[in-house]
Amino acid sequence: MKVFTTKKELQEKLYAMPIETSIGFVPTMGALHHGHISLVKTALIENDHVVVSIFVNPTQFDNTGDLVNYPRTLNDDVALLEGLSSNITVFAPTPEEVYGTNVASKRYDFGGIENEMEGKHRKGHFDGVGTVLTHLFRIIEPSKAYFGEKDFQQLQIARKLVLIENMPVQVVGCPILRESNGLAMSSRNKRLTPEQREHATIIYEVLEQTRKNFHQDSIPELTKAAKEAFEGNQYVQLEYFDIADVDTLTTAHSKEEGQKYRAFVAAFVGEVRLIDNVALN
Ligand code: PAJ
Repeated sequence: MKVFTTKKELQEKLYAMPIETSIGFVPTMGALHHGHISLVKTALIENDHVVVSIFVNPTQFDNTGDLVNYPRTLNDDVALLEGLSSNITVFAPTPEEVYGTNVASKRYDFGGIENEMEGKHRKGHFDGVGTVLTHLFRIIEPSKAYFGEKDFQQLQIARKLVLIENMPVQVVGCPILRESNGLAMSSRNKRLTPEQREHATIIYEVLEQTRKNFHQDSIPELTKAAKEAFEGNQYVQLEYFDIADVDTLTTAHSKEEGQKYRAFVAAFVGEVRLIDNVALN
């Protein structure tokens, strides 16, 4: 499988395909796991050809340590994709190839959803995500782009982005893949010790508990119980637990008829920051 590193070569390959070829796009930062692969499989079913980008986007990291330590496993990633289908093209560009000389974010107004949860704790993160996705969508011109609900706020940002930038891309959300112990699959899990992996399961346990109790308990009761569960675990430091409306992503204080809610967690296990969420109704 040839890995394309320049826009020019990639576009030459895509433009050489018959005009009616539908292109599905799966943007990733590599260190691929089954969560990523599930997006690629869905994209393969729904499109004639699939482009997978592998690009650790510098503008979405607010922490240089996290950017430097981000796992980079291009050869393994390509081998994994090669085993799936011959209808996949990998795009693994340099920052300069994507951004030109100005490796910087554009400022976006996503209508407020960028200021909640991850937006509060990772300054400029969604400007970086919005900027890189705009560049990648313009280079690849996909019909559909696939995002995991693992990063639910990012999925909602991508939906807003295509409207704001007026790009004819259908954004598709895909379910979260988990390890057998419930831990959401993540490239960052590679940085956990076996012991930390065990402790990290509290994140899913608390989310599941919240989901089970959602119909009987009030939102303040659910939030209190979740926070107390984390306080009892010395290995996992909770950054936020939030029950939010899926459209506005603002913290919910009571349940409104007909509205959908999800519970969201960000927590540190040692140095590693993990996020997860579940649908509550
Ligand atoms: P990355 O963290 O590599 O994730 C790429 C895609 O895989 C995202 O849409 C993410 O939600 C999805 N994904 C990750 N873990 C998953 C899991 N356990 N189950 C289902 N889907 C999962 O998210 C990014 O990269 C970047 O921000 C990016 C969109 C590529 C922009 O740089």
